Amino acid sequence: MTRTFRHATRIWLPALVAAAAIVVVACMPLGAQADAQTAVNTAFNKYKTLKEGKNADYIPALAKVDPNLFGIALVTIDGKVASAGDLATEVSIQSISKVFTMAQVIQEQGPESIEKRIGVDATGARFNSIIAVEAVRNVVGSGAPEMNALVNPGAISATSMVTGGSADAVWNKIIGFHNDFAGRQLKVLQDVYKSESDTNQRNQAIGALMYAYGYIKTDWKQAVDLYTRQCSIGVNAKDLAVMAATLAAKGRNPVTGKQVMDPAKVPPVLAVMATAGLYDDSGKWLYHTGLPAKSGVGGGIIAVSPGKFGIAVVSPPLDDAGNSVRAQKAIADVSNALNGNPLAGGR
Ligand code: DON
Repeated sequence: MTRTFRHATRIWLPALVAAAAIVVVACMPLGAQADAQTAVNTAFNKYKTLKEGKNADYIPALAKVDPNLFGIALVTIDGKVASAGDLATEVSIQSISKVFTMAQVIQEQGPESIEKRIGVDATGARFNSIIAVEAVRNVVGSGAPEMNALVNPGAISATSMVTGGSADAVWNKIIGFHNDFAGRQLKVLQDVYKSESDTNQRNQAIGALMYAYGYIKTDWKQAVDLYTRQCSIGVNAKDLAVMAATLAAKGRNPVTGKQVMDPAKVPPVLAVMATAGLYDDSGKWLYHTGLPAKSGVGGGIIAVSPGKFGIAVVSPPLDDAGNSVRAQKAIADVSNALNGNPLAGGR
């Protein structure tokens, strides 16, 4: 062996071995990687002392929730769980419920039902904007409604589309669908329900307007009340992660094994989440993570890496757009560490 060749081997061999190791790790299925738990632990430790943001207070009960509450859970499509922090304390699901009621309408009446009645486009306005309703009204006749079922007007309309007759019958269907996604029986947090019912005059105005403009065709007061109830369902970080993982697994709950939705009807749900799940910041979120996601003012965020995992974080302090500060940061870190971005093309 010449001196030059020996020298080159000393330099290149370790580099080759390192490159091969990276390729092997990247090719491992997620379930086989110990690094889901490592990524979750790393994010938890990095953000556990972060104090940015503020609890929502326009619903008085939300202002009283402990702002230090912080839990991360990741569930793979084969039902493996990685977690850190508080997995037990329940917060109200709030706007995250909009995903599952929209999914229920899509499941029962097809994706076109939501597209035709409500629309699947971003509004570019806050989640409870009334100006957005007026703006949409101008294009609605043109067959191009610029709204979606993840902002309050669209969500209250979606709730009104769940069939069943009496309020109780419709409610049993709504909570039943949420239960199937979570894999356990969920309950309404009565203090939150009361607090929001006492203060939701703006949503009542939106409900009345949506009825006046023909989006809601049934009793709008019932729709607003059921919507308020669904927003008050109590969930912990693990529940939310299982719900997200069920979407990641083509509608099959990976913990209970139940097929909750038709696989073909899941992509439209994920598409609306990608478009409008984090409201005005949805574009920024997608730019950095590529993940369909949904936030709630209770402090939860769910995100879905299709075919891989669902992840959820609960942490009540929110940013100006109404999204949990720590949840956004922790989910982005964990997903990026696990190659979770579907727009990156796999693995
Ligand atoms: O209707 C409301 O204002 C609340 N029940 C839900 C709003 C919400 O979660 C918006 N999320 N970021």
